[in-house]
Amino acid sequence: MTKKFLKFPDNFLWGTATSAHQIEGGCNNNDWSHQALKKYINKIPWADKVIKNIPDAGIACDSWRRYQEDIELAKNLHIKLYRFSIEWSKIEPHNGEFDQTALNHYKKILISLKKEGFVIMLTLHHFTNPIWTAEFGGWEKKKMIKYFLRYTKKVVAEFGDLVDFWVTINEPGGYAFCSYGIGQWVPLKTNKFKMAIVFKNLIKAHKQSYKLIHHVIKDKFNKFPQVGIANDLQAYSNYRKHNLVEQIKVYFIYNFSNHLFYKLTNIKTHDFLGVNYYFEVRTHKQFNTKTKNDISVKHEDRHLTDTEWVIYPRGIYDVLYDLSDYKKPIYITENGIATEDDEVRIRFIKEHLEEIYYAIKAGIDIRGYCYWSLLDNFEWAAGYRPKFGLVSVDSKSQNRQLKASAKFYSKTAEANGLWWNY
Ligand code: GCO
Repeated sequence: MTKKFLKFPDNFLWGTATSAHQIEGGCNNNDWSHQALKKYINKIPWADKVIKNIPDAGIACDSWRRYQEDIELAKNLHIKLYRFSIEWSKIEPHNGEFDQTALNHYKKILISLKKEGFVIMLTLHHFTNPIWTAEFGGWEKKKMIKYFLRYTKKVVAEFGDLVDFWVTINEPGGYAFCSYGIGQWVPLKTNKFKMAIVFKNLIKAHKQSYKLIHHVIKDKFNKFPQVGIANDLQAYSNYRKHNLVEQIKVYFIYNFSNHLFYKLTNIKTHDFLGVNYYFEVRTHKQFNTKTKNDISVKHEDRHLTDTEWVIYPRGIYDVLYDLSDYKKPIYITENGIATEDDEVRIRFIKEHLEEIYYAIKAGIDIRGYCYWSLLDNFEWAAGYRPKFGLVSVDSKSQNRQLKASAKFYSKTAEANGLWWNY
């Protein structure tokens, strides 16, 4: 057995990612919040359905109050890149009315992160929308773009000198698909036509906010910002390699799902590529299947994550290799596993980092990695059961406790690489 140290490039950024609704608590004014939906029960036709089917995030990890503790945790884990999102519904609780207290609160977080030496990646839209936008149809309506730009302008003018990377939209494809295509996320719709409209509006929102962010930052701070998205990218494969029909199917699904947003926004509106990679999708071997989508590995009795995703580290290599054609710097903005077994988490991280190492060796410009997530947190429709965190959070006291995986990740970040036995 040979032992080998996989050393990462000198300025590689070791990071972690979170999002406001999933950790902050008190997000009581957006379209996922039961409290807000109850207030709008007569104004939003799907409000009742969401209350019945989607758990409420409640206090979450209480990070709104405990942000300093989270920052210190991350710092002690030798994390350098902190990706998080701000909650539009807190910043603009009513149409056109900005809440300076909320803005100041986020500014305090940003200043504290900077003081501790973090590189900051800020997400402007991570799935949730202010409840007042839901009343008129949110992203189904073109006017949502105008509102998103107004919010973006405000935020960028406030925080422009503190943020290093701007993520305009988290997983635009995943959001359109899960919220409007398969009815898994708010507003639980299953309408492919609406899904396409939402996707189109997100494309416009990204393109225009890209320009706007550059314009405001240049104007106000005389700087050149880094703007992009965090894209959900999967590895795809077909069961029967010899089968041309399956190959063509994979070809189209792959290009549609992984490349369409870049193609339609124009790659020039991406200063970096943010990669959210979790699993592989295999096309079903039966074409007459009644399953609704192509993820159909359950019958194979394979080892899946607690969210029933296939663990496939090689997929991240393939996705990264494929993206390298765009010749843009790449950051892995999310990669992680839901599991109660922390040994499995350590193995997952190691195996994915090994693939990333080889992708870098192959000449791909990968500059950072964010493990999803720092804390066990609110996992959307699945509530609090799936545990993605490096740090566990007690559901009653919100007390944080480092898991073994946090220590492993910390060591890796400190050493800027990891040992492997071959
Ligand atoms: C997403 C989001 C995160 C998730 C994470 C685990 O991909 O859905 O960006 O908010 O929590 O991916 O599912």
